[in-house]
Amino acid sequence: MSGFSSKIGAILAAAGSAVGLGNIWRFPTETGMHGGAAFILIYVLFMLLLGVPVMLTEFVIGRHGQKDVTDSFRKMSGGRNWWQWMGLMPVVAGFLILSYYVVVCGWTLYYAFVAGIDGFAGKTATEYVQDFQDFSTSSSEPLIWIALIMLMTCSIVALGVQKGIERGVKIMMPILFICVAVLVFCSLNLPDAEKGLTFLFYPDFSKVTGSTVLSAMGQAFFSLSVGIGCLCTYACYFRKDVNLFKDSLMIATIDTLIALMAGVIIFPAVYSIPGLEPDAGPSLVFITLPNVFQQVFGGASEVAYVFSLLFYLLLVVAALTSSISMLEMIVAFFHERLGWRRSVVSVAASVVCMLLAVGCSLSFGAWADKTLFGMGMFELFDYVVAKVLMPVGAVLMCVFLGWVVDERVVRDEVTNGGQIKTVLYPVWRFIIRYVAPVCIVLIFAKEIGLI
Ligand code: PHE
Repeated sequence: MSGFSSKIGAILAAAGSAVGLGNIWRFPTETGMHGGAAFILIYVLFMLLLGVPVMLTEFVIGRHGQKDVTDSFRKMSGGRNWWQWMGLMPVVAGFLILSYYVVVCGWTLYYAFVAGIDGFAGKTATEYVQDFQDFSTSSSEPLIWIALIMLMTCSIVALGVQKGIERGVKIMMPILFICVAVLVFCSLNLPDAEKGLTFLFYPDFSKVTGSTVLSAMGQAFFSLSVGIGCLCTYACYFRKDVNLFKDSLMIATIDTLIALMAGVIIFPAVYSIPGLEPDAGPSLVFITLPNVFQQVFGGASEVAYVFSLLFYLLLVVAALTSSISMLEMIVAFFHERLGWRRSVVSVAASVVCMLLAVGCSLSFGAWADKTLFGMGMFELFDYVVAKVLMPVGAVLMCVFLGWVVDERVVRDEVTNGGQIKTVLYPVWRFIIRYVAPVCIVLIFAKEIGLI
């Protein structure tokens, strides 16, 4: 099995999985739809209370096994073998999540292309909205871009963990940080930036409902890639000297910062440009950003060109590091567990996801009226992943480590055999035994009207 060759490579890969469209596209979308600052506050609380502890839980389970998720659960379960069925979770969730995530990846790639041919120049805000509408509802155009990004994802995963993923993220992650920082600066210089910041940071709790809380929890899990065994899968490749505690905290901090920065890029723009609304939904980032570049650099079209291209390339990078982690969830199972060839599984899984992605993409246009529980295919997949599978998976993993596994095994794994001393260990243990399961179950009960 190919482990990560360096500690920093493994951490970057996990951070690469976490930081993605979830931060730059989904976070502003959800924040906009749930009224801003109050949602953010609850989201940050869930990051700390649930996200980080569950992330550490996944890391511990994955690294203890060193092979694949099924094996990790089997090894730690002390003979309660049915726990090994948890190994199927990343496979099921991997197919579902990649199939709709890749749709937004496709949009992103298309926007990078439009930026590259200077297609944003000289248009009005309404034209940007219309252009996105036309593109995303088309039955054929998005599919080309989705297929392209699927191909990129597949190629990187087929190359293997060390050669493909580690090398990729090592180059891509640092560029991403620089780009986001520059764009924050640009957005803060927009005329009505203050209104956007008020929306982002001045909470109005009257807007908080049960669904706000569930959405904030879903967003925290989605953003950190936790609850469905993705980080568990990566942790199987971690070396034994990685400090899991420190790394989970670091990844969560980076992830939250990037999400907040994405908010600071998007909302000042939404309020500075007439005709845009914060609750536009999944289209928000795509209709807002072209405006940002034009507004900030009004006169200097070359600068607008360079920056919009840079931003969309950055989004593609962020999307790719996450989509490869999703495909890896599926491939690891078939390759490590069943011994199938990496390249064969990568291609086969990508084809299946692509077929499902066609449905998800069409749900914005031709299939808009085909709904289940009032949701189109894209919306339904997102709901099932972020609001059902992730929380349920998180509860199961917390219960497993907190109640099923021998405490000495857990302590040994977290502290690297006693080498790491941390006062946070009992806090984390208390959270995964009591706080996280109770909290998640209560939020569920509220959602389905039991309380
Ligand atoms: N965390 C990723 C993002 O923010 C999405 C993701 C979820 C990736 C689950 C892998 C597993 O975009």
